[in-house]
Amino acid sequence: MKALIMESKTNNILIIFAHPALQKSRVNKQLIKYVRDIEDVTIHDLYEVYPDFHIHLKKEQALLEKNDVIVFHHPLFWFSIPALLKEYMDLVFQHMWAYGKKGQALKGKTLLNVISTGGRESLFRDKGYNRHTMVEFLFPIQQTAYVCGMEYLPPFVAHGTHGMTKEVIQEHGEDYRKLIVALKDGTLDIDQARTLSRLNLDIDKIIMERKK
Ligand SMILES: Cc1cc2nc3c(=O)[nH]c(=O)nc-3n(C[C@H](O)[C@H](O)[C@H](O)COP(=O)(O)O)c2cc1C
Repeated sequence: MKALIMESKTNNILIIFAHPALQKSRVNKQLIKYVRDIEDVTIHDLYEVYPDFHIHLKKEQALLEKNDVIVFHHPLFWFSIPALLKEYMDLVFQHMWAYGKKGQALKGKTLLNVISTGGRESLFRDKGYNRHTMVEFLFPIQQTAYVCGMEYLPPFVAHGTHGMTKEVIQEHGEDYRKLIVALKDGTLDIDQARTLSRLNLDIDKIIMERKK
């Protein structure tokens, strides 16, 4: 499938941010600051907009339609996404809009997860404590993207948040910003990116120079 993210145009990015207790956050509260002021990037904080879980379906669909790249940014909760993000998917990715015979609204868009985990990366292996990789835990999102005709990229993951130093949080923040700018400019090497277990293994390797 050909991805819509292209070098010839600026891609609009929508970051769907989902953290139910941002006042207690150490990591994501910082990470999101690194992508706040980028032109053509919209940050949509679900728990801020919908503290009562009453999601405005049509407004959310209109917002998705305006964007080329959709980012789900959230902490990992019980090897899954936070509850409000699941509610959002259940309601907004509607039959005959997102999928089904006439459901083409998300077709050709790109989807990825930006995630933080308490657990260290070494736990997320076949033979590790969690018995599965992060890509495996994200399979429901990957399959949703497939059903909706979207390009699904490997996740950007900040592992080991417990005791993560300020320096490491800063490194993740800078890598996150590079990724979002590359997605916007269409300078992410998609073929190379697809081969990775997480996009921030070596972010500079998957970003191409912008053609003058
Ligand atoms: C309800 C809940 C469930 C969690 N489940 C997991 C989990 O399944 N795996 C994991 O590695 N960390 C898990 N964590 C740890 C969070 O992912 C971690 O606290 C978060 O990424 C830190 O980001 P923050 O500083 O922005 O809150 C869980 C935390 C909470 C509160």
